[in-house]
Amino acid sequence: MPESRPETTIITTNSESETERLGVSLGCRIDKGLCISLVGALGSGKSVLVRGICKGLGVEEDVLSPTFILYEEYVGRVPVIHLDLYRLDHERDIEELGVWDRLGDGSVVLVEWGDRSVHLFGVSDIVINLEIIGDTERRIAVRSSSDCAGVLEGL
Ligand SMILES: Nc1ncnc2c1ncn2[C@@H]1O[C@H](COP(=O)(O)OP(=O)(O)O)[C@@H](O)[C@H]1O
Ligand SMILES: [Mg+2]
Repeated sequence: MPESRPETTIITTNSESETERLGVSLGCRIDKGLCISLVGALGSGKSVLVRGICKGLGVEEDVLSPTFILYEEYVGRVPVIHLDLYRLDHERDIEELGVWDRLGDGSVVLVEWGDRSVHLFGVSDIVINLEIIGDTERRIAVRSSSDCAGVLEGL
């Protein structure tokens, strides 16, 4: 997180659809290319949130829960790249996928297990930490660089 004054919003959701709705409102607020890292245990809701963000970004096709896929690309208001680094072995695998070229070309890059890549994590504009509190309760902390704090306003 390069900016010095990050802003954080913490939201508790009580169902999958509530988390998806949170993602939709986030996605709707995004008006430029940026990198979002999602961090949290298996089953914490990263893919559910990504599905919502994609909907908010105008992606119409189905967004999968690709724990076994590293890279997926969708077309929304802007290009959307969905990465899942759960099985990432080497940072150079990301390089080979051409991800660096997509940062800053107007694409929104959504990275599940974003903390598994030091580089991607370091350039993330928004970091979302998801915590499993109970069967259907999730604590979701959205931290944004001051540069895109507008995305969090009124969430
Ligand atoms: N509040 C909630 N938000 C998101 N998912 C929830 C919630 N409560 C229960 N779930 C369940 O947790 C699972 C989250 O799965 P997924 O998004 O694939 O997790 P991850 O990508 O973090 O591994 C789903 O089976 C979903 O139904
Ligand atoms: Mg997932």
